[in-house]
Amino acid sequence: MNPKIATSSLTLGILGGGQLGRMSAIAAAQLGIAVVIFTPEENSPASLVAKDTIVAPYNDKDALRRFSEMTDIISYEFENIPVKTVEYLNSLKSDNVFPDEKLLLISQDRIKEKTFLNDSGITTARWAHVNGLSDIQKCISDWNLNSFILKTARFGYDGKGQIKCDALSIENNTVLATFLDATKEQDIILEEVIPFSCEISIIAARDNEGKTSLYGPMLNAHKNHILDTTTVPSGVSKTVSERAVHAAMKIADAVNLRGVLTVELFVCEDETVLANEIAPRTHNSGHWTIDACAVSQFENHVRTACGMPVGSADRHSDAVMLNLIGDDVNTIAPYLTQKDTCVHLYGKTDIREGRKMGHITTLKPKTDD
Ligand SMILES: Nc1ncnc2c1ncn2[C@@H]1O[C@H](COP(=O)(O)OP(=O)(O)O)[C@@H](O)[C@H]1O
Ligand SMILES: [Mg+2]
Repeated sequence: MNPKIATSSLTLGILGGGQLGRMSAIAAAQLGIAVVIFTPEENSPASLVAKDTIVAPYNDKDALRRFSEMTDIISYEFENIPVKTVEYLNSLKSDNVFPDEKLLLISQDRIKEKTFLNDSGITTARWAHVNGLSDIQKCISDWNLNSFILKTARFGYDGKGQIKCDALSIENNTVLATFLDATKEQDIILEEVIPFSCEISIIAARDNEGKTSLYGPMLNAHKNHILDTTTVPSGVSKTVSERAVHAAMKIADAVNLRGVLTVELFVCEDETVLANEIAPRTHNSGHWTIDACAVSQFENHVRTACGMPVGSADRHSDAVMLNLIGDDVNTIAPYLTQKDTCVHLYGKTDIREGRKMGHITTLKPKTDD
């Protein structure tokens, strides 16, 4: 570790102003590290707790230069930051952005992501890059599918940019036709539907000495395609847990990780584990770590970006995290007086359907995994 970093007043730049950046900025403050947020959005959740904010588009070179001058090291809080932005920042100060653009590039595009996973020996759902009905028809007959999912290659989140279809009725399916029309300028993938028994995730944090801490596996339940609850311990078998950890470590090795990455996985009845998505960042399924671990995913994001040793990912309590989506934020009153319950709100004044407004973590004494 560079002792200068530990003792001097370090400033971390974070691209993106959402709740993930906010919680990293709070963790940074605890370590005496100041944060500057760069975001196109006024009054973003992260800017409310940061030392400074630059509000500008991600391609504004003058603003990016100022951001670079104001900060020692830069990270990002979500994956839809243009790779060119990261390349430009790295051209101003070399090797200044963590995780690097290789991981960012992979996780921005499902075609690159799944190709990378498969090339690294990690199994995913069967998938193909498709262009129109005839490609779809070919997958259906080659793989003998009853149903399938179409996903846009880029910019999907919380189930946006994807539809599930019945393979028997693709000819007169207006939902499918509308989707294909709306996405005709974009790359699309088709995936077989996995009848998974559950969904899990693993968060890996690796420092510049190559030491890795892993959170999870976490058990994730979704409602309307948005994460609803995360539970630890996950209750999955030792075999499943080992397979998930193995996949996460393989990915971290393959991208030469410095920073935090999350892998989302499907678990099948026969204990097969399939990788679904990689995120080059902290993750909603790791919010419980703030309250149930000595070092949270956010602190490890800050530590690994800033050249400090990664902290232990051990948990001292079992936890259930409940997301507050949209109007749910109006139901927090009972949680405020409930024992072993931690309420987190993101400072968003505008309540919108599907918007992540906060989360609740309920703690219980630790059991064995
Ligand atoms: N191939 C699949 N089979 C079954 N369910 C899927 C499949 N792909 C996605 N899903 C469901 O949709 C959710 C969102 O899909 P995902 O690929 O993670 O996209 P995003 O999180 O970017 O919206 C997953 O968490 C899972 O519940
Ligand atoms: Mg996902």
